Amino acid sequence: MRKKIVAGNWKMNTTVQEGVSLAEAVAAKSAQTPENVGLIIATPFTHLACVAPVIKGSKVQLSAQNCADHTSGAYTGEVSVDMLKSVGCQWTILGHSERRQYYAETDEKLVVKTRLALEAGLGVILCVGENLEQREAGKHFDVVKEQIENVLFNFTAEDMKNIIVAYEPVWAIGTGKTATADQAEEIHACIRKVLAGKFGEQVAEDTTILYGGSCKPSNAHELFAQKDIDGGLIGGASLKADDFIAIAQAY
Ligand code: 13P
Repeated sequence: MRKKIVAGNWKMNTTVQEGVSLAEAVAAKSAQTPENVGLIIATPFTHLACVAPVIKGSKVQLSAQNCADHTSGAYTGEVSVDMLKSVGCQWTILGHSERRQYYAETDEKLVVKTRLALEAGLGVILCVGENLEQREAGKHFDVVKEQIENVLFNFTAEDMKNIIVAYEPVWAIGTGKTATADQAEEIHACIRKVLAGKFGEQVAEDTTILYGGSCKPSNAHELFAQKDIDGGLIGGASLKADDFIAIAQAY
């Protein structure tokens, strides 16, 4: 049975003090979420070491939002996978559309980062998704398929045990415009089919595929009710503990 996950991507929001308070509130309320739903919060790098002890003992797991594509050395401003591990991080998001768009994150780089993360013992939440132009041109299936192939086809069925896929249509991120449950489900089913073609039915069945893009308490239930949607990667609504928890309760 694949895991149900609700993950919060805080992006570049909150000071450390605000982040610690938010993490405290999420940890305190996490016991009110269904037992079979895992919770992850992806904080800014600066917050990780302070947030780790705050969520310890709760079901909430800790994620980074990115990692370096080198292990150590003269890479000013970068944060390595070993650094993430050393502060108690269990996951890292990779390939978020904002990184692809603003920081020239390529599929080639994502292969390197995914490998380093897995080797360090971090789980990876790999984001894929089409932009508005690609959606309007009817290319969304091809775009997502190519992103999956370019990155994940370099890995093994064993590696897939530590990889979550997040489908985030760029046009739905931070816009208030959610993909309909049907639109999301057809892409999720397509992703699962692509994974089955490479890794076999069982691996595809066991892979958690999250939806992200204006997911909130009011639409989470309908999205999560879809057969191939295994939870959400939440941006804006993860900055309010009550909303984040309410989304997890949508199961
Ligand atoms: P919003 O939930 O703010 O649309 O952001 C989604 C997202 O990008 C999560 O990674």
